Amino acid sequence: MNTVATPTALDDLSDSGLSLHGVRQIRQAQHDQTLAKLAALNIKAPAAQHVTWVGDLQQGDGGKGAMADRLGPSHQLIVRTQGGDNAGHTTVFTAGSGQNVVLKNHIVPSGLRHPGCVGVLGNGVLLNAERLADELAAFAQHVPDIDKRVLVSARAHLVLPLHRLVDGYQEDLKRQSAHEIGTTHRGIGPANVSKVNRIGIRVGDLSDMDLVEERLHANVQFFHLEPDQVRQNLEWLSGYRKLLLSLAIDSRRLINTAVSEGYSVLFEGAQGPLIDLEHGIYPYVTTSPTAVYSVCSGSGVDLSKVTRRVGVLKLYQTMVGNGAFVSEDHGELGERLRRVGEEVGTTTGRPRRCGWLDLVHAHWAVGLNQYTSVVLTKLDVLDDFDEIGVCVAYQRDGEILAHFEPEHRVLTQCTPIYRYFKGWKCSTRELDSYSELPERARQLIDFVGEYLGVDISGVTKGPRDSDILVPAASELIPMLAGPARAGSDRAG
Ligand code: GDP
Ligand code: IMO
Ligand code: MG
Repeated sequence: MNTVATPTALDDLSDSGLSLHGVRQIRQAQHDQTLAKLAALNIKAPAAQHVTWVGDLQQGDGGKGAMADRLGPSHQLIVRTQGGDNAGHTTVFTAGSGQNVVLKNHIVPSGLRHPGCVGVLGNGVLLNAERLADELAAFAQHVPDIDKRVLVSARAHLVLPLHRLVDGYQEDLKRQSAHEIGTTHRGIGPANVSKVNRIGIRVGDLSDMDLVEERLHANVQFFHLEPDQVRQNLEWLSGYRKLLLSLAIDSRRLINTAVSEGYSVLFEGAQGPLIDLEHGIYPYVTTSPTAVYSVCSGSGVDLSKVTRRVGVLKLYQTMVGNGAFVSEDHGELGERLRRVGEEVGTTTGRPRRCGWLDLVHAHWAVGLNQYTSVVLTKLDVLDDFDEIGVCVAYQRDGEILAHFEPEHRVLTQCTPIYRYFKGWKCSTRELDSYSELPERARQLIDFVGEYLGVDISGVTKGPRDSDILVPAASELIPMLAGPARAGSDRAG
């Protein structure tokens, strides 16, 4: 807890009429106001603090939403720091009524169904106001008081209808030259262009509609759109202005105060490292940061505070959109993984491209994001395979490569080298603990951990919150609660 220091001799040196002590008092008042905001949200600092990031190891869709939901109860703030409604996260659970619920969220953080969790959309998020309003309304049944438990950074940039229009145009153009990225058409790329070009409209800017109109003109000019787009976008924005301003906060201050005061904060990643703007397979990337550094830029929290970095790694590979995919299977295997794993894009409904797990790529992701542990997901999808392939190296021009170079040109010249594991050929869906896993599944899991040089802190064998098995030494155990904790194997 911050307290204002007693005045010292230095305090008398001010000739501005404002002493150092006075400055400290003003700061303390701001700090107290932020704490009061946390108290008003009815959340309390826990006995043991966790500051955790959940991130993917692949392109995305590894099950981040489901993991954030499992870890939600042990965190008070759940924060998105990047991406927008191009993300699609899924949570499956049984409601108090016994009803099976599947929540698919694109913009509000996952895990908010747990009482005591507050969702924050940080400054790095690209916000589609319409999606936010729709999700707040649609989830109200399963997430009580959701409208009071979501806060939005005043600095988050808005994704406008004009951005979605431009996304569509650009993709149409690129398709003609066979260079289509395969975006989600959610306007994310163009919204980032406006942001970087300093003509973006932020949530807080809605308090000055003259400024908003001026920026709309600048966007219409920049993207060569019909002049009527100004009116259309202005009308659209006017519809969400009141809602957004009512949720707007200084998220950097709130999150940093929460961290410094011992609250547990969960950063829920969107997308994955393969499509990180800086490190991914450019140009087949999204336009936001997706690697762990995005926590820092998108929330203002120093990365050294994020002591747990939990990665999710699907036990096979999928991709939506275009770009090199070394272990992609265009035949029966790809079709089978797609069917059994129900691999259809959460956001666009597109069938996902599928193939065996690519450990060369996953190892690169571990180096980039320094996960403290990894959860292997969708083990059950492999239950019935006679053998399971894992890509352990690439071959290119007669040379064997064991490192991942995220260059489209290079990757399209690589062919996978697989190691095969015998399948366990039984259902893992009903298993209750990690020690019950079939020996052959353990061999695969242990091999992946060994190859990656990282602790495997859990394995999921179904989409539900309870479908996680965790080994005795898992770093997740203190963070899991209720059904998710039941699969922990403290005895071994
Ligand atoms: P995210 O984008 O990383 O949050 O992942 P998505 O929600 O887009 O995609 C993961 C999909 O796999 C969702 O439909 C989940 O319900 C589902 N899922 C997650 N874990 C498991 C699992 O262990 N087994 C099975 N069969 N499905 C899972
Ligand atoms: P979650 O959070 C998988 C992909 C798109 C496309 C590329 C660029 O659910 O893991 P964009 O619309 O972002 O400009 O498209 O990025 N993409 C994702 N792929 N999971 C996601 O999110 C994705 N979000 C964007 O398919 O290839
Ligand atoms: Mg997804």
